[in-house]
Amino acid sequence: MAASRAAASCRAWAARPGRLFWRGLCSQEPDRETHFGFQTVSESEKGEKVYQVFENVAKKYDLMNDSMSLGVHRVWKDILLRHMNPYPGTQLLDVAGGTGDIAFRFLNSVRSHREHQVRQKLRSHQNLSWQEITKLYQEEEQQSLGGSHVVVCDINTEMLKVGKQKAQHLGYSEGLSWVVGNAEELPFNDNNFDIYTIAFGIRNVTHIDQALQEAYRVLKPGGRFLCLEFSHVNNSIISSLYDLYSFQVIPVLGEVIAGDWKAYQYLVESIRRFPAQEEFKEMIEDAGFLKVHYQNLSSGIVAIHSGFKL
Ligand SMILES: C[S@@+](CC[C@H](N)C(=O)[O-])C[C@H]1O[C@@H](n2cnc3c(N)ncnc32)[C@H](O)[C@@H]1O
Repeated sequence: MAASRAAASCRAWAARPGRLFWRGLCSQEPDRETHFGFQTVSESEKGEKVYQVFENVAKKYDLMNDSMSLGVHRVWKDILLRHMNPYPGTQLLDVAGGTGDIAFRFLNSVRSHREHQVRQKLRSHQNLSWQEITKLYQEEEQQSLGGSHVVVCDINTEMLKVGKQKAQHLGYSEGLSWVVGNAEELPFNDNNFDIYTIAFGIRNVTHIDQALQEAYRVLKPGGRFLCLEFSHVNNSIISSLYDLYSFQVIPVLGEVIAGDWKAYQYLVESIRRFPAQEEFKEMIEDAGFLKVHYQNLSSGIVAIHSGFKL
């Protein structure tokens, strides 16, 4: 019975344009139960519901992020980039990359590293003529990223569409590509990337363990996993205020700004459902990563987990 429900759900899912098959759902595997926020749903329903949430809010997603967090999400993302500290030549995969915030920061960071390198090179060649200096600058400008590349991978075509428009508007074209893909079944070869990031994405994935295994698979030996995600607040006063804000204010903002109360109700509930810092650290270790540690930001409202494929 459950299997036939899963097959029907799978057919409906696959028939919709731009949708990806979900691992297991189109096979004979039974459709197990999971959670979507505080609701219990089948795994196939969860995939579809998460898809709908981001499809509905895609156009207002960035505005909502700024409004809900009063811009603090930008600081958290900047800190993630500081942890990453990418050198020119880095190949980054940003999974659940949505509208490109991490990718754009990565490109900025690599470009400024590269400029720094050029300045150092010029300083070490004190006797260059201005023609030689101009030539050197021109050459460096042509490879301002030093071969770095970021792939933004997301399951949701609407989120990627908004990301691509934003990239065009902000002038990012070089060193950037957009791929539709499921974190649980990444469309990339093994040992392909230096760094894997996932920011506010893993909470939405149905099988977190599979997503972590995929992260491990696509990273090169020596590669780094970095996850920025909502986590558990470690201060009781802040926790009460945060709960009040989350449950009383965020869904209202969601309704007023994005016209979608339920999407932001889901956001708040899914945060509470996500494993706490230590438990998530163990999950990352179970996927094979070593030297796993985390840093709490804003009293644990979010945490950055890091691990290496060694
Ligand atoms: C909260 S947004 C985060 C976007 C971006 N990383 C940021 O920090 O602004 C979550 C993203 O996860 C994506 N997502 C959800 N489930 C996914 C999956 N299984 N595989 C890949 N992306 C997924 C959604 O489509 C959405 O774009």
